Amino acid sequence: MAYVVAEPCIKCKYTDCVEVCPVDCFYEGANFLVIHPDECIDCGACEPACPTKAIFPEDSLPTKWSEYVRLNAELCKTWPNISEKKDPLPDAEQWKDVEAKRQYLEK
Ligand code: SF4
Ligand code: F3S
Repeated sequence: MAYVVAEPCIKCKYTDCVEVCPVDCFYEGANFLVIHPDECIDCGACEPACPTKAIFPEDSLPTKWSEYVRLNAELCKTWPNISEKKDPLPDAEQWKDVEAKRQYLEK
């Protein structure tokens, strides 16, 4: 099992999760982050760190976001690693509580 980044991260990308991950297993796209499922050690540190509550253990991921298991596993193969916190996206506060952001995911 691994932890999974789901839809609430899209267009926010606060990166607080990156700062607490002991194994640097986050990978960065233009407006979303993913976790490499083979590198995550299931420590759980990232889950409470995320301001949008985007991170879940795979076995408690809401079913409406089940697609994100596959998206994390696929996108981590081509996106660059991110190991340091950076500023969130400029409109993060506006997008934080918006639902249904899947259409905006930039691959
Ligand atoms: Fe990193 Fe731990 Fe989160 Fe896995 S659960 S992504 S190892 S902080
Ligand atoms: Fe995204 Fe939350 Fe990390 S918004 S970048 S999963 S802190």
